[in-house]
Amino acid sequence: MTAVPPNITTISHTVSRRERYIHYGHDGAVLWLTGLSASGKSSLAMALEQALMRLGYSCYVLDGDNIRSGLNANLGFSAQDRRENIRRVGEVAALFADAGLICITAFISPYRSDRAQARACCRQAFHEIHVAADLATCEMRDPKGLYRKARMGEIDDFTGISAPYEAPEHADYIVRSGAESLDESLDKLLRYVRTVLPRNPA
Ligand code: ADX
Repeated sequence: MTAVPPNITTISHTVSRRERYIHYGHDGAVLWLTGLSASGKSSLAMALEQALMRLGYSCYVLDGDNIRSGLNANLGFSAQDRRENIRRVGEVAALFADAGLICITAFISPYRSDRAQARACCRQAFHEIHVAADLATCEMRDPKGLYRKARMGEIDDFTGISAPYEAPEHADYIVRSGAESLDESLDKLLRYVRTVLPRNPA
């Protein structure tokens, strides 16, 4: 846990959760996608964002490569840097959810303890979604050529090759992205999201 500095007084919002619910027509939430590189997290997250927007939901994707180009550009891929990456993203996602929005995150987030910390930060808003494709499938896809580089020893600490991926033991939802098409995965995930986050019909 990062210590809070002294002499900090938190300020309460005067807009209530109920007011935000009425404004957006749904509760805020964090849809936390976790899985190997090339498992399909980013494609699924972007497709889900588009599909939810069309259904009237307000949402936004935080994607690993994008966030690492800005907010987290000072972090690498050691276990410690990944922990800090996920800690910051967990905090930001919690703010999105508190604001009443649906935050879809697409990070490998390979360590169970880091994901547990993100869940603790987002509390009941957090949904862990395992984008499950096995290593052989991801390595065969290799859209960015990173697995090949990792095998050749050109990238250190590469998830699945020279760094661990701890699969969720109790995911809230599992997407079988290694065995089905993006459209199939999207359809099923959309059904899950609409069940757990129904839109206010008013
Ligand atoms: S995480 O482990 O800290 O959650 P994150 O999702 O932000 O990772 O970033 C993963 C992306 O960074 C991958 O999709 C890949 O494009 C790129 N990348 C570069 N180096 C590595 C590495 N050593 N391990 C995994 N991904 C890497």
